[in-house]
Amino acid sequence: MPRRITKAVIPAAGFGTRMLPFTKAVPKELIPLVDKPVIQYVLEEAVDSGITDILLILSEGKEAVLNHFRPHPALEARLKESGKIELLKSITPFSSDVKISCVWQEELDGLGGAVKLAEEFVKDDFFAVLLGDTVLDSTCDIPVTRQLIEAHELTGNSVVAVEKMAVELLGSYGCIGGIPVAESVLLVNAMVEKPLPHEVPGEFAVASRYLLSPEIFALLKSTPRGKANEIQLTDAIKQLIPSNRLNARIISGHRHDLGSKAGFLAANIAFALRDPKLAGAINQKLAALSPEIAAKFVK
Ligand code: G1P
Repeated sequence: MPRRITKAVIPAAGFGTRMLPFTKAVPKELIPLVDKPVIQYVLEEAVDSGITDILLILSEGKEAVLNHFRPHPALEARLKESGKIELLKSITPFSSDVKISCVWQEELDGLGGAVKLAEEFVKDDFFAVLLGDTVLDSTCDIPVTRQLIEAHELTGNSVVAVEKMAVELLGSYGCIGGIPVAESVLLVNAMVEKPLPHEVPGEFAVASRYLLSPEIFALLKSTPRGKANEIQLTDAIKQLIPSNRLNARIISGHRHDLGSKAGFLAANIAFALRDPKLAGAINQKLAALSPEIAAKFVK
């Protein structure tokens, strides 16, 4: 039986250029999904999956991400005094068993470069990687990171989360091909970062979550810069394929990329519409807006 997975690494160092100018001073990981920053959903997914030890990978100017998870005694006291217990809970989401630490990425040399910085934290355990700008909304009772842990418990291997994607979109993702070995689990036989049309190895895109063996650090050290002149995590992971040590879990869940404008807006509408306290008001406002929208755009 593999050892229990308790560690997660959350890369959150990138500039967030797709959401400029907003992300000039505010980290993209603090973009709100209704009333919570995206990174809080990411950490909640990790903790709900059994993770107790979390390492944030941050860069200069992103101190606010760490501050979001630091205690705020004055605010906590004020909420307690005024009996705002739900709000108090919302700013203290984790029990004291959950440890959050951080390292600073000085050179922004890609996702592989970010994960490399976690070697001392990870030591010799398998660990999860959750990209800090993406919410994975499980469509079953099992959080997506837990789905990966279960696939790892089944195979003993590293696991990447994947979702089926239209072929014309695959060029924006890490892309894999594989053969089914259990329900929703594939043995990966090819993996390419942001493939050109003739390089596409299969119909699945890597979806922001990974469960990795600590051997990834040795692989990352010998991985040269790849696409976009960055150290690509994909290029290190794919070295596990020849020895059949890489699986993919076809996730039961929806991916919301809050680092893109369309993803941010669509996710906010979707989450607001399923919040019983907000749905009525949002529906009304959208209905009131729609004649104007129709007048402008519908010919
Ligand atoms: C990264 C990974 C890519 C993955 C994507 C979404 O790309 O390199 O393999 O498919 O995240 O999880 P990025 O979006 O940072 O360019």
